Amino acid sequence: MKLHLEIWRQAGPTTEGHYESIDVPDAVEQMSILELLDHVNETLIESGREPFAFASDCREGICGTCGLTVNGRPHGPEQNKPSCQQRLFNFSDGDTIRLEPLRSAAYPVIKDMIVDRSALDRVMQQGGYVSVNAGTAPDADTLHMNHQTAELALDHAACIGCGACVAACPNGAAHLFTGAKLVHLSLMPLGKNERGRRARNMVDEVETNFGPCSLFGECADVCPAGIPLTAVAAINKERARAAFTAKDA
Ligand code: FES
Repeated sequence: MKLHLEIWRQAGPTTEGHYESIDVPDAVEQMSILELLDHVNETLIESGREPFAFASDCREGICGTCGLTVNGRPHGPEQNKPSCQQRLFNFSDGDTIRLEPLRSAAYPVIKDMIVDRSALDRVMQQGGYVSVNAGTAPDADTLHMNHQTAELALDHAACIGCGACVAACPNGAAHLFTGAKLVHLSLMPLGKNERGRRARNMVDEVETNFGPCSLFGECADVCPAGIPLTAVAAINKERARAAFTAKDA
């Protein structure tokens, strides 16, 4: 299939970017968006030109490293799939595809389509973990947890941290991301130890770097892990609960 691509080129964080036009005469509809970029880059390298920079790792939808805006939509046209799983059969012969970085005030561009998503890492540093002396591995049945609670925790632990939710949100909010972590960790038996402190610190951090949530729902629409919009309620619920717990709990 023939495709016309408009691809974002930006040399660095402080330089101005622009779209570069590239025609691809031999794209294959089974290709992913990232494989299409690989193909473009091979052609550029062969002709002595600079390839486009973009991030990827697993290419299996599990690591959260990839993240492009495809025709204005974070990750691409297919709902709840990361960029590495978006295939060209969603496009038609002769289509124009515009590829650019995830767009959000919290994500400065590093180069071309690579953005700095460390603002999400800072939220995690404030409490996206469990502080216990783990010792040796416990027996599987030592920690009691009913099946529904375990499933709910796992559903929210599925967040891969790609940050597409922030880019999709008109407010640039990270409530879906943070809510998923708060739900997941508050449900785990060991995660209850520092539940209040975690909620206070993570919510403070997310409010420092990201916008407010207006429940638009675009975040859940693009989330590759299918985190439900109800996760954002954990922000207020966990913060309200934390107001009644000791400062060090
Ligand atoms: S490269 Fe790992 S989720 Fe896309």
